[in-house]
Amino acid sequence: IKRIGVLTSGGDAPGMNAALRAVVRACKYYQIESIGIRQGYEGLINNDMIELGPRSVKNIINQGGTILKTARSTEFRTPEGRKKAYEHLQKNNLDALVVIGGDGSFTGANIFHKEYNVPFIGIPGTIDNDIFGTDFTIGYDTALNTVVEAVDKLRDTATSHDRVFFVEVMGRDAGFIALNSGIASGAQDILIPEQRDSVEDLCDSLERSEESGKKSSIVIIAEGEQLGGVYEIAKQVKARHQEYDIRVTVLGHIQRGGSPTCHDRVLASRLGIAAVEGLLEGKTNLMAGIRSNKIVFTPIDEAIIKHNEIDTELIKVANILAI
Ligand code: F6P
Repeated sequence: IKRIGVLTSGGDAPGMNAALRAVVRACKYYQIESIGIRQGYEGLINNDMIELGPRSVKNIINQGGTILKTARSTEFRTPEGRKKAYEHLQKNNLDALVVIGGDGSFTGANIFHKEYNVPFIGIPGTIDNDIFGTDFTIGYDTALNTVVEAVDKLRDTATSHDRVFFVEVMGRDAGFIALNSGIASGAQDILIPEQRDSVEDLCDSLERSEESGKKSSIVIIAEGEQLGGVYEIAKQVKARHQEYDIRVTVLGHIQRGGSPTCHDRVLASRLGIAAVEGLLEGKTNLMAGIRSNKIVFTPIDEAIIKHNEIDTELIKVANILAI
């Protein structure tokens, strides 16, 4: 392998730049060339690439977003799109790819590999932490800290006005952000897609909190369709408890931005180097991840299909502390 293409794809996540920096610098260290592909797979399709060196990735370890830009490419899902991508890959003499993204991005790389035999290694970059084969995804820790900081602020108003706040956090199909930020911000209740909840249970919990002397509460709700979404849940609770002064806050894309935490920077740096080393050792169709603080490689099929389980011990912690 002489020349590696690197791209960021799917939703941006804080720490993607740190991973890119690590890939580029590892390439230099091992005396191979690195090419940045802009806007995820779109850059392959449109031949939008740039030569990168150690100095082109200076001062980005601390930056959120991705300097390469990212996209959820629909064209790459088509055989025609992938054909164009392969032509440009060949034209640019790319021997392998490093794909920084989530399961959608890995699925694309996997299909591309099966069709054109292009070696690749994935690096898990998503705030959702929903990728099998790693204890942590890049961006998750930063997103958690963003949520906790925001909820701490909301708590000031909740306490001052004796209010109940329903806070919607991200994590399309996974409750990792909700559960962990809920514990860290002292939420009275946490609603996650992995657990069946009902408005009745939520009301019970709020009633218990009132009876135990609490005057205000925070409820964290993972985004999605569960129970009709955060506004519907708030409406239904209000219908049962007109006396509650309820407010809804949707944190939204604030959770995707900002300077990565130390944890995400170190994780991204380690995984970036691991991906390059993996390719140089002849590995392909794998995702570089971290398990018990050790670098591990997981077959990409597993990373895509399997899901990390929510830790029931954490659910217990949340319940006990909401007493
Ligand atoms: O996968 C990351 C994520 O932020 C999810 O938590 C969220 O559901 C989704 O992306 C939002 O996607 P978009 O930025 O395309 O609206």
